[in-house]
Amino acid sequence: MSDNATAMKKHLLSINDLTREDALLILDTADELARVSDAPIKKLPTLRGRTVVNLFYEDSTRTRISFEAAAKRLSADVINFSAKGSSVSKGESLKDTALTLQSMGADAVILRHGASGAAHRLAQWTNGVVINAGDGTHEHPTQALLDAFTIRKHLKRSSGNATGVGEDLSGLRISIVGDILHSRVARSNVLLLHLLGAKITLVAPPTLLPVGVEEWPVEICYDFNEAIEDCDAVMMLRLQLERMKSAFFPSAREYSRLFGLDRERLLHARKKPLILHPGPINRGLEISAESADAVESVILEQVANGVSVRMAVLYLLLGGAHE
Ligand code: CP
Repeated sequence: MSDNATAMKKHLLSINDLTREDALLILDTADELARVSDAPIKKLPTLRGRTVVNLFYEDSTRTRISFEAAAKRLSADVINFSAKGSSVSKGESLKDTALTLQSMGADAVILRHGASGAAHRLAQWTNGVVINAGDGTHEHPTQALLDAFTIRKHLKRSSGNATGVGEDLSGLRISIVGDILHSRVARSNVLLLHLLGAKITLVAPPTLLPVGVEEWPVEICYDFNEAIEDCDAVMMLRLQLERMKSAFFPSAREYSRLFGLDRERLLHARKKPLILHPGPINRGLEISAESADAVESVILEQVANGVSVRMAVLYLLLGGAHE
């Protein structure tokens, strides 16, 4: 396993915390650790004696369980904290909650929070490593890393090639489609895919694009049929109806017709693009059931790869390489 762990920053709050080399190191380490997930006994002693806290103020299925599985496969102790049913309901602040958990010996805190910037604040208050598991509409860096890992596995060589360093995503065309405005997954993916050399197209109605998107390293396209023609991978985003306080499109039916992925739309694709979705899926809204379950779909593989990628992040940030 690589011994470059010290080069990385202490926390993973944003993809901006990573250099291209850091990102490739995480993907290559995840590649090696994926073998543990495939072995009959899925355990390494690397983080024995370390305590990892899952501090989740927003609901999660994939990210929380995936971090828990990743930490346990590295033999760390895991404490799961959900704001629901805790003293948060009595008014306890994020800072006091975090300091309480630190007093219980947390070496790393994995935070999901509804407020953009919450993970950055937490990193100022605690001594341990902080990993952002999604903060408001800001970022979700480990989701982007597992997406890049999945794309690379299918479309590029990963580690084990002649140079010993996995390839980046240069030359790939990737479309990110849907509710960009509310998507922390889109923000992290734009940063990471750009860092790794991919060409990114955002496809969305103008109302679901954020202010200032012209400054992002992307092309914008309002016509999904045109964007899908020449792309290698298409990343569908969930319509985040819970974050929408007003109407962003005339009707769900019209949104689906113009920006949903279905079999008919896939016929416009010259290549057979990989189909990704971070989940949870609104079947029949941004993606048809047929497309979600198509042979080109790697949605469940993304979930499996999430464990290996999060193992790599924990391993590198908690200094597993030095043990
Ligand atoms: N992709 C993702 O973050 O899913 P969860 O909300 O279930 O964690």
